[in-house]
Amino acid sequence: MTDFSERVEQVSISGIREVFEAAGEGAINLGLGQPDFPTPDHARQAAIEAIEAGKVDGYTTNKGLLELREAISEKHARDNDLDIGPENCIATSGGSEALHIAIEAHVDGGQEVLVPDPGFVSYAALTHLAGGEPVPVELREDLTMAPEDVERAITEDTAAFVVCSPANPTGAVQSPADMREFARIADEHDVLCLSDEVYEHIVFEGEHRSPMAFADSDNVVIVNACSKSYSMTGWRLGWVAGSERRIERMLRVHQYAQACASAPAQYAAEAALSGSQGIIGEMVASFEGRRDLVLDGLEGMGLDVPTPQGAFYVMPRVPEGWVEAVIDRGVIVVPGEAFGERGAGHARLSYATGEAELEEALDIMANATEAIR
Ligand SMILES: Cc1ncc(COP(=O)(O)O)c(C=O)c1O
Repeated sequence: MTDFSERVEQVSISGIREVFEAAGEGAINLGLGQPDFPTPDHARQAAIEAIEAGKVDGYTTNKGLLELREAISEKHARDNDLDIGPENCIATSGGSEALHIAIEAHVDGGQEVLVPDPGFVSYAALTHLAGGEPVPVELREDLTMAPEDVERAITEDTAAFVVCSPANPTGAVQSPADMREFARIADEHDVLCLSDEVYEHIVFEGEHRSPMAFADSDNVVIVNACSKSYSMTGWRLGWVAGSERRIERMLRVHQYAQACASAPAQYAAEAALSGSQGIIGEMVASFEGRRDLVLDGLEGMGLDVPTPQGAFYVMPRVPEGWVEAVIDRGVIVVPGEAFGERGAGHARLSYATGEAELEEALDIMANATEAIR
């Protein structure tokens, strides 16, 4: 009888889904990882025009439209001071597919991938699906990942380590000095640094630098997407950037798994990347205000909350029973252990929700905190 692959049996539907299902109707959802802004109009219009002009009825090239990859290349020059040609990127179906093809192309069965713990759920799952072994790296008190801990965890079986900054689920931002160290480690140990930069623009304190800017070798691959920067999670458009030999290997996976990213989304993404960048400043200002509101509220409840410096998540340390008490009262938050063993004792809240709802949710959380004391 055909059984299931061992690889697929090692992954399960993410713990985030379980929380959504446990919540009643009318619950306030602080579990969602997407901005609550509309996609910029010029991006929507570009897709509409491309559809109406009959430009999106067929496959695009596997790597994606040249115009889009040129826009990605210019974005890297503009925002990251990186010289990445259009031939050095592949447009993917969201950051998710970008992570998938990067891991598939670089990780052999039994090889290790170092992942932040707590960290974004896909890193460990995609490593398992590639037949590899995720190795969790404990975070510092402030929830950033210490380069020395990554370096210490490297063995001869290590294929890659993942850096995510600003981070989901913690909101932590790695310093430029850390990023320089990650690049050095990738160079010196000849291991791949997979840099997930999907939240790069959403930084309140500190500065986002890509480890690629510091690397002497081609051992850094960037994963990015329009999803969070332009509020385009539904469009499914991301990319990988890397050296020619790495792009060529990742393209093999992309070609067979996906063929090409959705054509209408490619037109929308080109417009988002090359048009007005106004939405970014607007979102960041709004998220910063909400971060402060949530931080004040949680600290007022007596919780210990590492200050998130970016993204739109906060990860307070919470007492036993807190997550359940909050969900029972109608606010969806995600238990920290959904993001790795060391996430236990934390909860992840997304504050990409309107201020009135956040205030209501904070009242409910204060009530739940009182009840379990
Ligand atoms: C850190 C991180 N990387 C990648 C992704 C995937 O993004 P996309 O929606 O573009 O697939 C997410 C989505 O939540 C994320 O939080």
